[in-house]
Formats: sequence, C-alpha cells, structure tokens
Amino acid sequence: MKYLIIGKSGQLTKAFQQLLAEKEEPFIALSHEEADVSNYAQLKNVFEQYKPDFVLNCSAYNNVDKAEMEYEEAFKINSIGPYNLALLSQEYGAFLVHYSTDYVFDGTKTEGLYTEEDKPNPLNKYGLSKRVGERLSLELCTNKSMLLFRTSWVFGEGTQNFIHKVLGWVKNEDVLKISADEVSVPTCSTRIALVTYEAIRQGVSGLYHLVSSGYASRYEWAKAILNVYGINRVVIPVPADTFELPAKRPSFSAMSNEKINHLLNLDIPNWMEELSTFARSKNG
Ligand SMILES: NC(=O)c1ccc[n+]([C@@H]2O[C@H](COP(=O)([O-])OP(=O)(O)OC[C@H]3O[C@@H](n4cnc5c(N)ncnc54)[C@H](OP(=O)(O)O)[C@@H]3O)[C@@H](O)[C@H]2O)c1
Repeated sequence: MKYLIIGKSGQLTKAFQQLLAEKEEPFIALSHEEADVSNYAQLKNVFEQYKPDFVLNCSAYNNVDKAEMEYEEAFKINSIGPYNLALLSQEYGAFLVHYSTDYVFDGTKTEGLYTEEDKPNPLNKYGLSKRVGERLSLELCTNKSMLLFRTSWVFGEGTQNFIHKVLGWVKNEDVLKISADEVSVPTCSTRIALVTYEAIRQGVSGLYHLVSSGYASRYEWAKAILNVYGINRVVIPVPADTFELPAKRPSFSAMSNEKINHLLNLDIPNWMEELSTFARSKNG
C-alpha cells in the first residue's frame, strides 16, 4: 500500500481521501479501532499487513479544553501516537508525515508571525501533548524520513471546526459574542492535503508551518463566516477570558507559511479566499 492514513473520519483524512482518489494513488484510511496510535502491537500488525511507503498521521486528540482533565488520553494520542508511528516507520522504511499545532507557542511574540525558528512554550495540556509528539517523532526519524507540519484553526468536511460551531450558534442566537484577542490562521484541510502531497512529491522533509496566508482574530473569523454564508447577525467582540474556559490559549499564535511557500514555489491563498472557495464547494 502506498499511502496509509491514520484516522478515518477526521477533517484532514477526508481531504486526503478525496485528493489521493483524484490522483489515482493507492491508499487506505484506518479508524482508531483498526489502528489505535497508542497501541504499538496493533500498529505493528498494520505496518506488517500494508507495508506503506508513506504514513499520513491524521489522528489527534483535538479537544483543547477537555485535554486539561483528560491529559492521559491526550498524551496517549498526541505524544505516544507519533512516537509509535515514528518507531514503526523507521523499522519498515516508511516516510512519516505528522501534524502539529500553533498551540505549541505561548503567543507572546511581539514582532511578526511565528516561524519554524521560534521556541515552543505551550500554555495548555493539549499544546504540551502535541509538543512532546513533535519532539519524540523528530528525534526518531532521522535521514530525512519525516515531514512535520504545524497548522492552525483547521476547517473542512466535518463537524469539529469553527465554521460548524458558528453555523450551529446562529440557529439559536441573535447576538454572538466572539473573542477578539485570540489571533491565528484559519486553514483549509484541502490545502493542507494538497501542500503535503506536493512536498512529498518534491522529496521535502523536516519541520514547516503550513497555514493559509494572512491571519485573523476569532471575531474576524466569525464575521467572515457569517458574511460568506449570507447570515445576518450582530457579532460583539469580547475578551477571550469572558468565557472562563479550562484551557489557556495563546493570544497571538499566527504562523508564517513563508518557508514552505518559498521552498515549493507555491502561492498559498489568504484564509478569506480559502473560506470562500470552501463555502462555494459546499453550496455546489
Ligand atoms: N482541528 C484543528 O483546528 C487543528 C488545529 C491545529 C492542528 N491540528 C492538527 O491537524 C491534524 C488533523 O486534525 P483534524 O482537524 O483533521 O482532526 P479531527 O477531525 O478531530 O480528526 C481526528 C482523527 O483522529 C483519529 N483518532 C482519534 N483517536 C485515535 C487513536 N487513538 N488512534 C488513531 N486515530 C485516532 C480519529 O479517528 P476516527 O476517524 O477513527 O474517529 C479522527 O480521524 C491533527 O494532528 C491536529 O492536531 C488541527
């Protein structure tokens, strides 16, 4: 099997399934029941059975607030998972692609966007579990045998994203309160899959930030979603601490895509353009 996708129903998996089918590439996507990243023995059987050339790790424990309470579960999926996949990819000679997050940063950078050279310092347990996963997999995958992409505010097919949340809120609320002091980059899963595919094709390895161009506050992101879906609601900008959420979030964690953009000679579109394209594709 050429491509082994870990995770079956997630946003990024869905984007890869569509892309690889279009490219007529052989692939298989396995659910957490068929390939639990925290279960080394089960994963070893999967590698033995499929002998993949490329492993796309689309698995994650993504619930940032719940991770504060369920740290063990988050750690198992986000830290032990990539460690197991890195071990087995090395053993079976597969190339590993793994994804991490802007939440590895503390958001205190005062000049410019976060680059690959900036030092991680996660503020919450989710960010910490992802950072440990980054370190463990990067240390194991030597000789250019891995790609690690950090991304942020992913949207795509599925329900685990901000677009889905906003479209749900407007069914019951006339006025939305959205934080204006949380800034990052909305990024479409289709773009992540496309750039990953291109990077693999060009033999690129290492750590890169893979996000749309530009950045937005949550407030701006929500307003753009309402605008593109033609929904009229009052949106009030509020401070993030209004919501008293369990996990602390970085206030400014927008990353720069310049390194991968330049290396692959791409022109990754602005998040607003990506949002319009996504909404158009959903409306047929
Ligand atoms: N969503 C975001 O806003 C965001 C932000 C920054 C970074 N990222 C990163 O981007 C990547 C893709 O995220 P996404 O949004 O596509 O995630 P998602 O939609 O939440 O999907 C998560 C996937 O993880 C799989 N999974 C959960 N537990 C597992 C286990 N024990 N073993 C194997 N698979 C397991 C699920 O499998 P099933 O299909 O079997 O349920 C599902 O396919 C992740 O690395 C994530 O951390 C996402």
